Amino acid sequence: MKVTLDRVGNLRGYYPGETAGAPTFVLGSHLDTVPNAGAFDGVLGVAIGISLVQLLGGRRLPYALEIVGFSEEEGIRFGIPFIGSLGWLGELPARVLEAKDKAGISVRETIQRFRHGVDGEAPNEPSRRAGFLEFHIEQGPVLDTLGLPVAPVTAIAGQTRASVTFRGSANHAGTTPMHLRKDAAAAIAEWILAVEGIARSVEGLVATVGALEVLPGASNVIAGECRATLDVRHADDSVRNMAAQKLLERAEKIAGARRLTVEHWTRMNQRAVPMDACLLSTVEKAFLAVGLEPHRTVSGAGHDAMIIAEHMPAAMVFVRSPGGISHHPAETVLVEDIEMALRVGLTFLDQLIVEELR
Ligand code: HGY
Ligand code: MN
Ligand code: MN
Repeated sequence: MKVTLDRVGNLRGYYPGETAGAPTFVLGSHLDTVPNAGAFDGVLGVAIGISLVQLLGGRRLPYALEIVGFSEEEGIRFGIPFIGSLGWLGELPARVLEAKDKAGISVRETIQRFRHGVDGEAPNEPSRRAGFLEFHIEQGPVLDTLGLPVAPVTAIAGQTRASVTFRGSANHAGTTPMHLRKDAAAAIAEWILAVEGIARSVEGLVATVGALEVLPGASNVIAGECRATLDVRHADDSVRNMAAQKLLERAEKIAGARRLTVEHWTRMNQRAVPMDACLLSTVEKAFLAVGLEPHRTVSGAGHDAMIIAEHMPAAMVFVRSPGGISHHPAETVLVEDIEMALRVGLTFLDQLIVEELR
């Protein structure tokens, strides 16, 4: 394949079709992951895409293939996910370009400094991208519980990501009586328990405070400021949006009752996205052709496919996560499940008629 690195750090391989100018079908996933992660989240989908091209053994398809490894899907550095796939689509809005990392460097500056990337469109820019298929570990317990190696994904749950900062007054831990304190750590702890309680009370809702910073961060200083992240997910956008609003309002109430202030910023509000019906049926035909019953699954995790689905037909295939573990070093896959994924993938590529995609 002709491999290029674009200006947003996406690694892209182009495998021409039988005829020049044929539409392009895209396979891939993200190359980045989370701190202290496993070895399969994202990169497995890139490796499966590359392996499918290898399995073609030089055989040309009636369409071209682009295999892409997206940068920055997780949103760890700038607090905003999907920067790679948004850039790949040529869709980096101001809210993304202006986002800053902990060192105060913006996405815009980072792209400008990233000299290895090809400015503008890479050579061999695919004529027309007809659709996208992402292979990805399930990152949950469903396939493992059902004893299934792979499954088609019908929709991806929406997600809200916000930053929340409680501000009180730092003071001496030894001399400040309890009733005179404005302790930001105690306030955020009360809020985190409220987040857990509210999420537990709503069927299918998950809410997580994953990152927490206590400032100034000394054992003998009452915390003057605490910064936290909030991640809220649900298959139904109205339930998720109501819950996110309720959690942020609860932060304001807790801060007020303790004579502190709180500031919050919703960094992303990503709607739930259905996968493309036509592409899904081609995927399911491939399952049946290799002797597998397709068990339709909804994804609680977010994926680049949900961003790409706004621009072209997109679908996903999950690979079993033994133990349902992910975002953890114990994340793993079974070799025989990867073999099944490759058999489904190769059959899918041979059955795909890109002209039928919308
Ligand atoms: O956070 C997620 O849903 C995914 O791992 N990016
Ligand atoms: Mn992830
Ligand atoms: Mn992922």
